[in-house]
Amino acid sequence: MKFSQFGNKFTQESGITRLMNDLNQGLRTPGAIMLGGGNPAHIPEMDEYFQQLLTDMALNGQLTETLCNYDGPQGKNTLIAALAEELQEKLGWDVHPQNIALTNGSQSAFFYLFNLLAGRDENGSIKRVLFPLAPEYIGYSDSGLDEGLFVANKPNIELLPNGQFKYHVDFDHLNISEDINLICVSRPTNPTGNVVTDEELLRLDALAQKHQIPLLIDNAYGVPFPGIIFSEATPLWNPNIILCMSLSKLGLPGARCGIIIANEKIIQAVSNMNGVISLAPGGIGSAMTLEMIRRNDLFRLSQNVIQPFYKKRVEQVIEVIRRYLPEERCLIHKPEGAIFLWLWFKNLPITTEVLYQRLKKRKVLMVPGHYFFPGLEHNWPHAHQCMRMNYVPDLKKIEEGIRILSEEIEIAHQEADS
Ligand SMILES: Cc1ncc(COP(=O)(O)O)c(C=O)c1O
Repeated sequence: MKFSQFGNKFTQESGITRLMNDLNQGLRTPGAIMLGGGNPAHIPEMDEYFQQLLTDMALNGQLTETLCNYDGPQGKNTLIAALAEELQEKLGWDVHPQNIALTNGSQSAFFYLFNLLAGRDENGSIKRVLFPLAPEYIGYSDSGLDEGLFVANKPNIELLPNGQFKYHVDFDHLNISEDINLICVSRPTNPTGNVVTDEELLRLDALAQKHQIPLLIDNAYGVPFPGIIFSEATPLWNPNIILCMSLSKLGLPGARCGIIIANEKIIQAVSNMNGVISLAPGGIGSAMTLEMIRRNDLFRLSQNVIQPFYKKRVEQVIEVIRRYLPEERCLIHKPEGAIFLWLWFKNLPITTEVLYQRLKKRKVLMVPGHYFFPGLEHNWPHAHQCMRMNYVPDLKKIEEGIRILSEEIEIAHQEADS
């Protein structure tokens, strides 16, 4: 049997499939310390809330109503209308139902949007997606139907007190060439926990408008929901912005519900793609979100439960890291949001790929940094000095993982010294 070009492209080993395989393997290996994946935390208060919400919805028939019917290709109309109203009311955005479409998770939204706007155009020339601030989300890497779809810009690195640092967009080297047809940034960023500042975002927005190309903001962790953001960040939307949101980090990754807020032309295109690829997005997540909006709980729980949980957890984990790894051994990207810590082992004599293999042998799973530079043309040593860890697992497990990590780092230094 031979696969098509499409088949070959999507069956080759990619960063994201390796990560998912490790995640599955890790989950099945007894005693493994899984700091690699992107699973959100099980926040007891949220789990209880969802349990009660689903019980109520089962009892009053909302659950069967949604399971026993198809929604339209744009997604559940009642949620779309309620969300538009909520965003108008709470954020003052000029968003209407024709500006919102739902997808089966935001991951599939990126696949739609990247291929809608980048790839070979009708004149045969290639259009690309620009990531203005690498490192970026690993899940973007292999989502282009055409090769060479992504271009990335290295960051400026600001060193901060307490062994922390922060990436900034290097506007001096940001080249929006003719072939760029979309600018895309995750805010907060997976893997680094960076939050592009309001000023940087407004500059990106202005540049996108000047070049008449859309700016995609991946808001999977951002405000107003799920609100996993610890720095000052104003949410931004206008008809030139494609804002992608998700229910996953609210605690519902199994619902597979992504939300796109964009101008009508984009929403119409996404609805058509939904129709062709999946007839309609699944309705469970949207039915739950609708009920959360009706109860006035969506923004409230994000602000009062989810944000404080992650903020406390990240502070605890940094404290643990510093007990085992001093600043000379490990710098930490300033944690401004998302569910990861980005560690920079500046003088490590081995690459983080080798470190990853050694850690895996000791049943600790983290992700080596070089996967997070989709579109970066040249090999950059910095990419091989960094590692991403998920900070949400149980604190005891985290401590054990960090202890093993610190041992492996010492071993690597001793090997180089001997
Ligand atoms: C930055 C970012 N965007 C998008 C996604 C995809 O989320 P989902 O497809 O579950 O909505 C993730 C998942 O981890 C992510 O980290």
